Parts: sequence; structure tokens; C-alpha cells
Amino acid sequence: MNPEQFIKESRRKIENELKDNKAIMACSGGQDSTLLAAIAAPFKNIRIIFVDTGLLRLNEVNRVDSLFKKFNINYKLIDAKNIFLNNLKGIIDPEEKRKIIGRTFIDIFNKEAENHGADYLLQGTIAPDWIESGGASRDTIKSHHNVGGLPADMKLRLIEPLRDLYKDEVREISKYLGLPEVMPFPGPGLSIRIIGEVTEDKLDILRKATDITERYVNAKYNGDKPWQYFCVFLPVKTTGVHGDNRSYGNTIAIRFIDTLDGMTGTFSRPDWELLSSISSEITDEIPEINRIVYDITDKPPATIEWE
Ligand code: XMP
Repeated sequence: MNPEQFIKESRRKIENELKDNKAIMACSGGQDSTLLAAIAAPFKNIRIIFVDTGLLRLNEVNRVDSLFKKFNINYKLIDAKNIFLNNLKGIIDPEEKRKIIGRTFIDIFNKEAENHGADYLLQGTIAPDWIESGGASRDTIKSHHNVGGLPADMKLRLIEPLRDLYKDEVREISKYLGLPEVMPFPGPGLSIRIIGEVTEDKLDILRKATDITERYVNAKYNGDKPWQYFCVFLPVKTTGVHGDNRSYGNTIAIRFIDTLDGMTGTFSRPDWELLSSISSEITDEIPEINRIVYDITDKPPATIEWE
């Protein structure tokens, strides 16, 4: 696959399908949808939107804004933090979370499409998304929101220019365009890294712990980082000591995983000093956390995300 040819061909396909109609495209700031946004950027009849779900990492909105500005990608930021948090109230089942998030995204897309007079939705679905969401012969493992959450009666017509690509091909084409390599981050965001109900307080804690972990990893590695490195908030309280007092705090799990395409993977073996520094900083900076564990499970039997 030649990147230049792929980009040309995708633009031609979009043009043929869209003609004079309008489309909206939601970009999460991840590798796949950023590539699609770069491909779609020249089209005046495609409105690119970036939804702040409130389930994003620290500074994510700013990171995406700088990236899009650098690559001349015009977009509209939609603040939907309260909508997502309200819709997730009381929900603990992971698949339920994904479905609610999928539906919330679709409601937002529908509203945006109506505002823009669009009949089409451009989506950055790639091959592993639909394979793992049960689109092929395999059982549904997780209903990834960008596939499993789409309601059957959705009025918008889908255009999925990347749907035959695998991760390595996305990376190659992105590199050709000069787009930075970004660590995969799931559509449902931090919600599937909080085991149990999602609340603002837990999101705050997880955002801080994730930021600390990312900063240490980014400072430690040049280029050969694990595929994904992140934290998970566990609703497990354990006893600890804080100064001279007994503490009773929550647990953060750290997960580093190496994989080629996200379909199978092995847990990374970072050095203990790195993990030790991350652990100390999280427990020093976040008083609600007094225990850190490291996930030593491959995929399979575990999945990469905990939910
Ligand atoms: P799992 O947890 O299924 O993760 O082993 C494989 C890859 O997919 C990401 N992931 C998701 N991405 N919506 C997404 O857009 C989702 O619901 C979702 N669940 C997992 C995960 O981060 C990993 O890169």
C-alpha cells in the first residue's frame, strides 16, 4: 500500500460518495480519526467536530487543538462534559457504559448534522474495530463504540474510508503526512478505566495518575515506548499508613502493554525504578490513593482495557 495513493484514492471515494451533500466527522484526536481528519480537511462540505466528553485525559483538549492548528484542520469543539457524566450516572456494567457513550455520541452527531444540514457521517473505523465488535465471524468481545454503539435506525449514512486498514498501515500513512504518533486511547475514554460508577471525583484522580504515568514514561523512553501505558482506578480500598496515621484509600493499577495491532499482546517489562518512581509520585500527589499494583496479564486471557 502506497500512502500517497491511499490518500488520493480515499479523497476520490469521499468525493464520489458525498457529491454535493454535507457530512460531519467526529475526531477524537487519536491516530485513526486524526488521519481521517487530515484526509477530510480539504473538503468544505465536511464539518469536523471534536467532542469534549469529560472522559478525556489532562490537557487533551489543548493537545488536540494544537495538533489540528498545526495541520490546518478546521474543527468545532463541542463541550458535552455534563451530558456524558449525567448519562453515565449509576452505570457500572462496562458494555452498558459503551452503549450509553455510543448513543450519547450519536445524539450529538445527529444534532450537529442537523445544524450543518448533513446526511453523512464520516468515521475513522479501521479493521480491528469491526472485527472485535463482532462484524466478522468472531463473537463480540467488546462493542467498541465506533461500531457497536451505532443504532440500527441511525439516519446518517456512514462513510468509512479507513475500514480496511490495520494499525500498522494507519501509522505508515500518518507518518507520510507528518502526523505525530499518538498512543491509542479508547473512545469511551477514562470511563472504562474506572471500575464501577464514573464520577467527577474518580475522573479527577485518574486524570492525575494518568498524567504522572505518561510524564514518567515519556521522559524515560525515546521511541521504543510500550504500545499503551495507562492507569486504572479500582474501587478497592485497602489499609495504608500516611505519616503517623492509618489511611484507608483506593488503588490504582498500572498497565503497560506491548502489541502489534491491539488484538493480542503481552504485558511490558519496564524497569522497577520507573514503576517505583511512578508509584511514589502518585501516592505522594494523590492523597486518596495509597496502593499501586502492576498488571502482569497478557491479552489473552485479559483484554488491554480492564472493562
Ligand atoms: P481491548 O481492551 O479490547 O483493547 O483489548 C484493544 C484496543 O482497543 C482499545 N479499546 C477501545 N477503543 N472504543 C475504542 O475506540 C472502545 O470501546 C475500546 N475498548 C478498547 C484499547 O484501548 C486498545 O487499544
